[in-house]
Amino acid sequence: MNVIVSIGGSVLVPTVDAARVEVYASVVEQLDDAGHDLGIVVGGGPTAREYIGAARELGGNEVELDQIGVAATRLNARLLVAALGDRAAPEPLQTHNRAKEVFTHGDIPVMGGTVAGHTTDAVATALAEHVDADLLIYATSVDGVFDADPGQDDDASKFESMTAGELVDVVSSIELAAGSNAPVDLLATKLLQRSGLRAVVLDGTDPAALVDAVDGTHDGTDIVPRQS
Ligand code: UTP
Repeated sequence: MNVIVSIGGSVLVPTVDAARVEVYASVVEQLDDAGHDLGIVVGGGPTAREYIGAARELGGNEVELDQIGVAATRLNARLLVAALGDRAAPEPLQTHNRAKEVFTHGDIPVMGGTVAGHTTDAVATALAEHVDADLLIYATSVDGVFDADPGQDDDASKFESMTAGELVDVVSSIELAAGSNAPVDLLATKLLQRSGLRAVVLDGTDPAALVDAVDGTHDGTDIVPRQS
């Protein structure tokens, strides 16, 4: 199976902890050994937020802040590259075309961000589209997609399955609520909608969830292509 994984920085590197990255890498290696072709996109997490916050205080504009965010995602991605050794391309790929070349060659492309204006969820979705992935996994720090922000609303309930169009609607309404955090960014959901890819949103803080997603036994939310 061709599988692209978007790993949030707060999932892979909540603090800089080699053991945590090692466990993640071993799950990726397990899937690789099982014959799956993988590509990984790593987010910036707390490192990105800290640097962006400091640069904002220093007067950086939004593009400069995004570029700092991209640098943080690539720094986190380098930890996974180090842990994967020869299975991965030797540095985070900066374009989708380079990542696709590595993927097609049979190695594991690891990316961070690319350019200003979006997040690594969107990068991963475009990569999944580019390599015609069978499955895209958003490994987030929440259980799946809820009908409201579970951090803010005790009555929020989780979708077991939904279409990409429904995901666009849910994420749009969550993003309109001040202080809320959507599980996947809006641009990514729009790319997902046009692509017709199959995706899963799950809690990736336990890396074993990636194997469950590939096996179809996960506890998250399935995003299915639009019904024809
Ligand atoms: P992330 O993808 O990590 O965003 O990018 P996030 O939503 O904070 O995800 P977690 O916390 O890792 O799960 C961090 C920041 O880097 C910039 C944006 O500013 C983003 O908010 N960025 C990232 C870009 O500008 N372009 C990219 O391609 C990726």
